[in-house]
Amino acid sequence: MANLFVILVIFCLLHSLVAVKAQLLSQNISIGTKLFPNSYPSSWLSPSGLFGFGFYPKGNGYAVGIWLIGTPTNTTVWTANRDDPPISSNAYLWFTRQGWLLTTPDTQKKINAEFEDQLSPAVSASLFDSGNLVIHNETHTLWESYKYPTDTILGGQYLPSGTELVSSFSSSDQSSGRFGLVVEDYFLAAYPINSKNILYWTFAATGLNDSSEWLNFTDEGLVLNNRNETAAIHRATLDADGNFRIYSHRFRNSSNNQTISVEWSGFENPCQASGFCGVNSFCSRSGGTANCTCFPGFNYIDPNMAFLGCYRDFVNHGFCWQNLQELTYNFTIMKGIMLGGHPYSEFSAVDWDCQNACLVDCNCWAVLYSTEGDCKKYKLPLLYASVDGSPSTNFTLVHRTMDLSALTHEHPKREIRNKSKRRRLIAIIGLSLGLLAFLFTLFAIFSFFLFRKGVQQYHKLLEIKNLGLNKEFTLRSFSYNELERATDGFKDELSSTSFGKVYRGTLLEDSKIVAVKRQENCEQEGGRDFIAEMTAIGRIYHRNVIQLLGFCLEGTKKLLVYEFMSKGSLADVLFQEETRPTWEQRKKLALDVALGISYLHEECEPCIVHCSIRPQNIQVNNSWTAKLCNFETARLLMPTQNGILSAVDRAVRGYLAPEWQNNALTSEKIDVYSYGIVLLEIICCRSNVDNTVSTPDEVQLASWAYKCLVTNELKKLIRDEEIELMSLERFLKVGFLCIQEAPHLRPSMRNVILMLEGRMEIPSTLPKP
Ligand SMILES: *[C@@H]1O[C@H](CO)[C@@H](O)[C@H](O)[C@H]1NC(C)=O
Ligand SMILES: *[C@@H]1O[C@H](CO)[C@@H](O)[C@H](O)[C@H]1NC(C)=O
Ligand SMILES: *[C@@H]1O[C@H](CO)[C@@H](O)[C@H](O)[C@H]1NC(C)=O
Ligand SMILES: *[C@@H]1O[C@H](CO)[C@@H](O)[C@H](O)[C@H]1NC(C)=O
Ligand SMILES: *[C@@H]1O[C@H](CO)[C@@H](O)[C@H](O)[C@H]1NC(C)=O
Ligand SMILES: *[C@@H]1O[C@H](CO)[C@@H](O)[C@H](O)[C@H]1NC(C)=O
Ligand SMILES: *[C@@H]1O[C@H](CO)[C@@H](O)[C@H](O)[C@H]1NC(C)=O
Ligand SMILES: *[C@@H]1O[C@H](CO)[C@@H](O)[C@H](O)[C@H]1NC(C)=O
Ligand SMILES: *[C@@H]1O[C@H](CO)[C@@H](O)[C@H](O)[C@H]1NC(C)=O
Ligand SMILES: *[C@@H]1O[C@H](CO)[C@@H](O)[C@H](O)[C@H]1NC(C)=O
Ligand SMILES: *[C@@H]1O[C@H](CO)[C@@H](O)[C@H](O)[C@H]1NC(C)=O
Repeated sequence: MANLFVILVIFCLLHSLVAVKAQLLSQNISIGTKLFPNSYPSSWLSPSGLFGFGFYPKGNGYAVGIWLIGTPTNTTVWTANRDDPPISSNAYLWFTRQGWLLTTPDTQKKINAEFEDQLSPAVSASLFDSGNLVIHNETHTLWESYKYPTDTILGGQYLPSGTELVSSFSSSDQSSGRFGLVVEDYFLAAYPINSKNILYWTFAATGLNDSSEWLNFTDEGLVLNNRNETAAIHRATLDADGNFRIYSHRFRNSSNNQTISVEWSGFENPCQASGFCGVNSFCSRSGGTANCTCFPGFNYIDPNMAFLGCYRDFVNHGFCWQNLQELTYNFTIMKGIMLGGHPYSEFSAVDWDCQNACLVDCNCWAVLYSTEGDCKKYKLPLLYASVDGSPSTNFTLVHRTMDLSALTHEHPKREIRNKSKRRRLIAIIGLSLGLLAFLFTLFAIFSFFLFRKGVQQYHKLLEIKNLGLNKEFTLRSFSYNELERATDGFKDELSSTSFGKVYRGTLLEDSKIVAVKRQENCEQEGGRDFIAEMTAIGRIYHRNVIQLLGFCLEGTKKLLVYEFMSKGSLADVLFQEETRPTWEQRKKLALDVALGISYLHEECEPCIVHCSIRPQNIQVNNSWTAKLCNFETARLLMPTQNGILSAVDRAVRGYLAPEWQNNALTSEKIDVYSYGIVLLEIICCRSNVDNTVSTPDEVQLASWAYKCLVTNELKKLIRDEEIELMSLERFLKVGFLCIQEAPHLRPSMRNVILMLEGRMEIPSTLPKP
């Protein structure tokens, strides 16, 4: 009897196990299916058990993805919402008519956000033996993971022209890493993720040879061939080290015991990947592996992750002031170093002349010179360095050291009238500026983490700030009280943005008029914008970019002090009858704005995308010089973050490029689009969208202006103004070029300038914007 009972129990157990197993292996996942991180079932298998979909361990939690099952390790080939923090163990995945919902006690989130716009509800889902997760209704495929690759494509999968793979941070952390790869018209190009214009590896279809058996460029894009489908599974991955490799996974019998081998890789030298080593460090190769080493005088940001780069230990190495007694120079000469990025100055000099030019220049931290006599000066941070350079080039790194202890106990204000100490005061100003610059570099480095890990990192930044901002260096770091007095209690409001209000102020010590921007939404979100703005603008100086004079960070109080622009914003001068500038002034304004943007795009390293070019974010001074301001939304060409758009003022939307609204990647062409709209506004002295006009045709400036151009009725656009029609037409055409829907049709800002100046031909066939 007892035996019968045991047998019965075992039978029931077996039966239910078999039932679950059978359901999990069946081809169709039906509505209502749930998967759990740490209880059965936690994953779904493809029919032959090659691929799994569901939860896999990530950090101290889980992530949702698709992996190739193998012993000893599973290989993740796709991850949903890869940059989200690890999922807690009380979450579960739920397949509903809206697709897969990741459900936690507080929230529900789609793992396939792109599914959103589907009108038709899901009926079932399948995980195929190709590793493709598909959601369908009775008749159609509604969504498939193959269309949204992360860092890997599988045999048979194709990467459409224009799409991007982004490497994982490391082999165990699948969140976005440091490199990108794009397929563009029959070639592949890889770049560091924050500098898309630096291509460290390209691979053309025409160069195909043996590898053509693997990579097939078709009209659809790049296809990875599966040569021997029965014996192995192939995948191509943009690895965390920036190399693009094709792997084969061969299985022995039924045990899932696999042999992974690299069938092909994009390049041999790991140092070829620009950005393999972070800032201020250089890459050296030994065999197939590479090492990142700090330049002398620099410390690792994180010694356990050398590739993150290095920073200057500013307690020992401060700022230089060339006339100062306390200053001591030192330099290190290294051979065969190659630098990426752009030198800020380049001229003819050899050997000691070149070194000396650097020693006497406070901006210069390194020079590179060859026997041919070209000398290149570099600022910090030093980018993309490796020891693969020609041995006939010498690299000199300058160490500027200064005994800070002599200065830290003196209060600058007490000495202001003491002429003999004046020099020292200047040094202190310089020193604090230098520290500020250092701080900004640090912020720039850390903004990498910030973008990656989100706002929780912000508190770490504040700790760093507390290290750096000493009471002694009060000149550019204002106290809140000081600014409150300077602005007379924040009385005179100049303008207001969604991030804060700008007030007019007068500095007490020199009666200089300044603009003080106070961050209104003080909590973490505001903090991130604040850092973004500081990071962006603290690194740059240009006549068409507003100058940051100082800042205040006291707890949650965050203020920035800018030069004051007497005429206010471009919107103020442009859209009011009384203040309307003349055509000559408008031409200058248009060119100024273009010069400012071009500087951000092409002369800054990494390239800065303002992301919010519009008349309200351009200020004009007494001499009709236009300067860009409000850098809260600026990006150091990082991949698009979720939620950027929600942070953007609604008013900006008219200026946003279409691809950004569609949540594509940030590129400098976003600014070109916005500039095009602003240019049309400058030309016509009216807003992009104006509801006070007489005919509906005129409401949208761009389409109305285009119509006037085509019908040869330019006079309509400028009312009765006397304008030389040639230049008017030229400016209009440049505007239309800039607002082309396809980003690659928009010219670069450098070419915009050339075209505005009439030094470059404007294409005669102008597509309708
Ligand atoms: C690989 O995936 C399978 C199926 O999801 C799972 O049972 C197994 O534990 C995983 N192996 C490893 C090493 O994570
Ligand atoms: C399935 O989805 C497609 C595309 O969304 C739609 O056109 C079609 O009508 C849907 N079929 C059914 C039976 O709902
Ligand atoms: C899976 O679902 C599709 C579409 O709903 C259906 O055509 C197919 O017959 C189903 N297959 C199985 C094995 O249930
Ligand atoms: C093509 O293959 C030959 C021989 O295998 C090799 O020497 C050559 O470098 C290859 N060319 C390219 C472009 O890969
Ligand atoms: C590449 O793809 C095309 C179209 O799918 C096919 O005809 C061709 O044979 C493929 N070439 C190779 C080398 O696999
Ligand atoms: C496919 O793989 C098997 C086993 O590795 C091998 O014997 C066979 O030659 C391969 N076929 C081709 C066409 O490469
Ligand atoms: C695995 O393969 C070997 C040789 O191909 C064979 O002798 C062995 O029986 C296989 N084992 C299983 C479990 O299939
Ligand atoms: C897998 O293969 C390796 C090498 O062939 C062998 O050492 C190992 O014991 C195998 N593991 C299993 C679980 O079969
Ligand atoms: C990498 O650098 C470390 C420390 O400088 C050194 O010990 C190690 O040998 C280097 N490795 C290679 C491969 O160069
Ligand atoms: C200059 O560098 C050398 C070697 O690194 C070091 O010994 C010396 O102390 C340094 N001098 C100063 C003034 O820093
Ligand atoms: C590099 O420096 C060495 C001395 O350190 C010098 O002999 C050599 O001429 C320099 N090379 C160049 C290209 O200036």
